[in-house]
Amino acid sequence: MARILITGASGLLGINLAMEAMREHEVVGVDRGKLKSAPFQILKADLLKTDEIDSILEAARPDWLINCAALASLERCEADPVQARNLNTDLPGELATACAKRKIRFLHISTDSVFDGTKEGLYSEEDQPSPPGVYSQTKLDGEYAVEQINPQAMIARVNFYGWSLGGRRSLGEFFVNNLSEGYNVNGFTDVIFCPMWVNHLSLILLEMLTKNLQGLYHVVGAQAMSKYQFGVEVAKRFGLRENLISPQSVERSGLTARRSHNLWLSVHKLSTDLGHELPRFSTGLDGFYTQFQQSYPQKIRGYQHLEGF
Ligand SMILES: NC(=O)c1ccc[n+]([C@@H]2O[C@H](COP(=O)([O-])OP(=O)(O)OC[C@H]3O[C@@H](n4cnc5c(N)ncnc54)[C@H](OP(=O)(O)O)[C@@H]3O)[C@@H](O)[C@H]2O)c1
Repeated sequence: MARILITGASGLLGINLAMEAMREHEVVGVDRGKLKSAPFQILKADLLKTDEIDSILEAARPDWLINCAALASLERCEADPVQARNLNTDLPGELATACAKRKIRFLHISTDSVFDGTKEGLYSEEDQPSPPGVYSQTKLDGEYAVEQINPQAMIARVNFYGWSLGGRRSLGEFFVNNLSEGYNVNGFTDVIFCPMWVNHLSLILLEMLTKNLQGLYHVVGAQAMSKYQFGVEVAKRFGLRENLISPQSVERSGLTARRSHNLWLSVHKLSTDLGHELPRFSTGLDGFYTQFQQSYPQKIRGYQHLEGF
């Protein structure tokens, strides 16, 4: 059992990772104030404030730190590049420094979208990144900052879906929410990605830490598909109407931040070093659906309110 400090504990990855990790480990989450109750210990902190990092490390004294804090909205990064750099580049560098000083294992979460998607076929960890926007550039610079300061750190480039605190953060929730209401939505046929159920991602990240892996890894789903195809798979699994999803090009979406067309990442290095295959997409989707049946979305949303409030 390790003592794990998770930043961004109110986020889509943070909350689900904390819930998975607490089954076997002692978990402390860092939160700015959204979590009014949670089944793990919370430290309230704004990580951009001076001296906050030292204070939380002093208070939590973790064996491992997993950094899930970020400005993860591509649109918000384009609108506020300074905040994007503060959170996605400078903060990981500062956390890496503090962890190296205190001999804390550091796992930093990065993104699949460091690639511009112009390659045909899969991207490996050896491929040169070519970030297409503010989000991806600041995330890539965050990777470089971590690598430079703390070469023992682990960096995971991820893509995932699951149930979030606010109920609207992930692409899986987008399709379930809209199709359940009978709304028509668009699904991009020309964005290929490798979605992983956030609980599978959480378990794999914990396994990587337990196995003492170091350096850069692609930690995404083993199956590539378009965002349209993902929507269709979600609709089928939830018994919703897939014909409400219109196939569309991302170029016609009106989104301000540029999206990469191909984010098919190889997980060969990861599965080799773990010594097993990654979970299948259909198993993850089954898990996402089972959580829905078991009212897991309502359960985690309840952590936003005071008990008995
Ligand atoms: N979602 C995806 O599919 C995806 C894909 C690729 C990579 N990623 C990466 O995965 C990681 C987690 O993403 P996510 O989707 O879970 O993001 P998210 O839901 O937006 O969560 C971000 C977290 O960072 C926290 N945070 C922001 N500013 C902070 C500050 N000043 N001090 C302390 N905490 C702060 C947020 O707290 P508040 O709730 O208080 O704002 C929130 O808990 C990120 O590194 C992201 O780049 C995500």
